[in-house]
Amino acid sequence: MCGIFGAVTRKGDVTPAILAGLALLEYRGYDSAGVAVFTERGVEKRRRVGKLEVLREALHREGFGGPALIGVGHTRWATHGGVTEENAHPHSDSSGDLVLVHNGIIENYLDLKRELAAKGHIFRSATDSEVLAHAIEEQLARMEAPAKESGTKTAGDETALERAVRATMREARGTYAIVVLHRRFPDRILVARQDSPVVIGIGPDVHGNPASFVASDVPALLAHTRKVYYLRDGEVATLTADRVTVRRLDGELVPFAPLEIRWDAAAADRRGYPHYMLKEIEEQPDAVAQTSFDRLDDDRGDVRFEDFALGDERLRAIRRVQIVACGTSLHAGLVGKFYLEHLAGLPTECDYASEFRYRSPIPSGDVLAVGISQSGETMDTLKALGEARTRGASVLGICNVRGSSIPRMSDAVLYTHAGPEIGVASTKAFTCQLVALYLLAVRLGRARGHLSQEQGREAIRALRVLRPRLDPLFSDDARENVHRIAKRFAGARDFLFLGRGINYPIALEGALKLKEISYIHAEGYPAGEMKHGPIAMIDATLPVVVIATQGRDREKTLNQLEQVKARGGQVILVANPGDPEAERLADEVIEVPATTDELAPIVNVIPLQRLAYEIAVMRGLSPDSPRNLAKSVTVE
Ligand code: G6P
Repeated sequence: MCGIFGAVTRKGDVTPAILAGLALLEYRGYDSAGVAVFTERGVEKRRRVGKLEVLREALHREGFGGPALIGVGHTRWATHGGVTEENAHPHSDSSGDLVLVHNGIIENYLDLKRELAAKGHIFRSATDSEVLAHAIEEQLARMEAPAKESGTKTAGDETALERAVRATMREARGTYAIVVLHRRFPDRILVARQDSPVVIGIGPDVHGNPASFVASDVPALLAHTRKVYYLRDGEVATLTADRVTVRRLDGELVPFAPLEIRWDAAAADRRGYPHYMLKEIEEQPDAVAQTSFDRLDDDRGDVRFEDFALGDERLRAIRRVQIVACGTSLHAGLVGKFYLEHLAGLPTECDYASEFRYRSPIPSGDVLAVGISQSGETMDTLKALGEARTRGASVLGICNVRGSSIPRMSDAVLYTHAGPEIGVASTKAFTCQLVALYLLAVRLGRARGHLSQEQGREAIRALRVLRPRLDPLFSDDARENVHRIAKRFAGARDFLFLGRGINYPIALEGALKLKEISYIHAEGYPAGEMKHGPIAMIDATLPVVVIATQGRDREKTLNQLEQVKARGGQVILVANPGDPEAERLADEVIEVPATTDELAPIVNVIPLQRLAYEIAVMRGLSPDSPRNLAKSVTVE
């Protein structure tokens, strides 16, 4: 939702590091940005509405009054309060000595605000976050009342500030990652977390200088250190340049066990592509291979998952699967339902995570709840899994980001090895989710005896040969064809996407991609359902994308296509090469390589992602950061 980056050091200037860190976190939110640092002049703060670039330019014109050894920055995605400079972070307390940034939502902020206002606090913003700054100020005054603290203390020692932050956060209800700095305690950064991601980077930094860092996500830390600590819910950390101390909200010390990050920051780079989204579309053959190949046991016709906590016995006890997810991940889940029913023989339901929580799922100990999430931080998915667990289900997370919240709360984790996905609209994470679900279904099918060894081998063989089969999608001809089709329809007002069976979720995903990044109204529909409504919209101005590759559903889908044609609709047909109907029925054809029915969605979605990308670029839009959207939605 929002991006946070903070640093404390004993040498140099943290401002450039903060701006560079925020740039790597901008995908989390980008409607406004701000930085606060402590310099010789005292607390200095700059905030600007707009992308980080606007703030960067402002700082270029009118920098801070000298180098700073400590500071924090924030990129915002508005929840409470409009997009204004006053609502941008960092926020301050009444004295201006304390600065705070926050990611999340404080649910009881109105109550807290009322109490504080009654004590004379004046608020400058409409945010829930500013209330925390004032609440800490109030607690600090209370803590310091009997014996005035001098402020600076030996690094790592407890001060009144730690106690004030803990007391405040014990009263706050909701989700948060907060970072607090105080001019009278200028050697330390305080960080607290509940249900919002935040990672601490532990020095010395790459130059050997004592320094500590805090960020919403690991890639922002890698330029400085590879030693990190994922702060857990209910923990409050004190970072000084030389050490990190972690306590629980009640003050109890937490044993501190940092991790070493092995992956490369360069992997998160754009590698010469004009946009991350295009790079990520093109990376899909590799990503699909990385997610599957090491896990395939060709001889036994089975799948091996690394560190997988669910053994055969547990898998055999499962009677039902409940998938929960949001957005693109939900569409992966809808395909996964086909996999699990067909390959594992397991009744499977797939719900929007935000809906699942508020119906009354039947409690049962033999349910496997599967949460699918690229980021592993989506609040609705996280909470839905929590709900499933309280109802007795075992929890399996399918995630792309290592060590994120969903994997940490799950009984078992299946990582998609897509590599960092930066484009807000998910592409390679989606195809890798499909692969992971396919692997899961084969594993379950084999463990439960639903698939014979031979059937397992066949399923694995199909996946093994998928990678070279994807090549034609990345040929110059294929790229040019989609480019031409995009040009022809870039001015359309609406789009309809039709698919049947396992390709129906791909119609949904094709429509979602187009909506997200080109802002064209698009609907995905089950082809057979078209006659019950959307058919009324069909005329010569409506492009209709029909997915009709080889398989059980092809003929019936083509029948629906005839109905579109008869009403003058413009048909863009996704078909296998040499399809005899393509010429006759379609205005435009997107050829995709043939594969098995199950794996066809992985193939078919790729040109639809490219179509959305091309149209967005032709319309002059930025596909990597579509308006109003965020990569990771950590609020309900
Ligand atoms: C946001 C993103 C989508 C993503 C969805 C779920 O809405 O813009 O691209 O599909 O969240 O995210 P997750 O990280 O849980 O897969």
